[in-house]
Amino acid sequence: MNISKKLKNKICKYLCTTKNSNEPQSIQNSKEKNLGSSNCSFMSLLNEYGVLNSSKDLTDEQKRTISIWFDFKERAEVAMIVAQFYPGGDYFEFGSEGTGTLRNFLTSFDLTDRINAFPDMRFYAFDIFGDMTGATGDHSYFESWNDPNNDRYEAAQRYVKQHGLFEDKVYLVKGFFSKTLTPTFKKNHLSEGRRIGFAFLDCNITNSYREVFHFLEDCLTDKAFIYMDEYFCNPDVPKMFSGFIDQQSLKSYYVRNAGAFGALFQIYR
Ligand SMILES: C[S@@+](CC[C@H](N)C(=O)[O-])C[C@H]1O[C@@H](n2cnc3c(N)ncnc32)[C@H](O)[C@@H]1O
Repeated sequence: MNISKKLKNKICKYLCTTKNSNEPQSIQNSKEKNLGSSNCSFMSLLNEYGVLNSSKDLTDEQKRTISIWFDFKERAEVAMIVAQFYPGGDYFEFGSEGTGTLRNFLTSFDLTDRINAFPDMRFYAFDIFGDMTGATGDHSYFESWNDPNNDRYEAAQRYVKQHGLFEDKVYLVKGFFSKTLTPTFKKNHLSEGRRIGFAFLDCNITNSYREVFHFLEDCLTDKAFIYMDEYFCNPDVPKMFSGFIDQQSLKSYYVRNAGAFGALFQIYR
């Protein structure tokens, strides 16, 4: 397994550990607080020259927390970059379980005052939200996100509500992509004259990426952004992306890396 894939798995495992909790919301929040606490943040390790101090006296838990904090920070930066250059269109996120990356984008949209420029904007988030009922493949993968003891959809709704930004414009769509990213949904979205301005793909596995790329055909606005969280750790992803760009007769420009494994691109016609 390459290093990027190990890093990515580390984050997934970290997020997965909420799965047996009876209180997903409070645990989620305390995890995020823990990542930001001053005694274990990545920034506190930087000395006055911007060089990393030694981590030799940190516990394994502190090391893990700092490294994951760094990855999360990079994705928050991606949200800020995209919001500042937003081309218009809706935000579509594929793989949204804890709504962390969705909330990044809501905040970045607010900070950059984009909502006034794009008042009609919608924020869609697609996920099984802990319910793998009816899975037709990739069982071992979905089992790691299955959580029959907690209503993760309700928890996701609560996170969005507590976040307090553009709640009326957020659409959390629960179910397998095969059931939610349907031709009818796409047709209706397009026929309303809507397009996607930022496609955020954080769905781990090749089959899910394939379904999303198929759905994205003809849906992106000019200068849309696309972020793939597995770009550097799943070799199928860059191949599928390149096939998508060719098939759609588009051009793509690499913008930046995030947390070693993710990549942000901008699309041109
Ligand atoms: C790494 S997590 C996403 C984390 C999220 N971006 C956040 O910030 O909390 C990956 C998610 O993708 C979802 N996923 C992957 N393939 C899917 C599919 N085919 N249909 C629905 N959800 C899928 C999984 O259920 C899982 O919740």
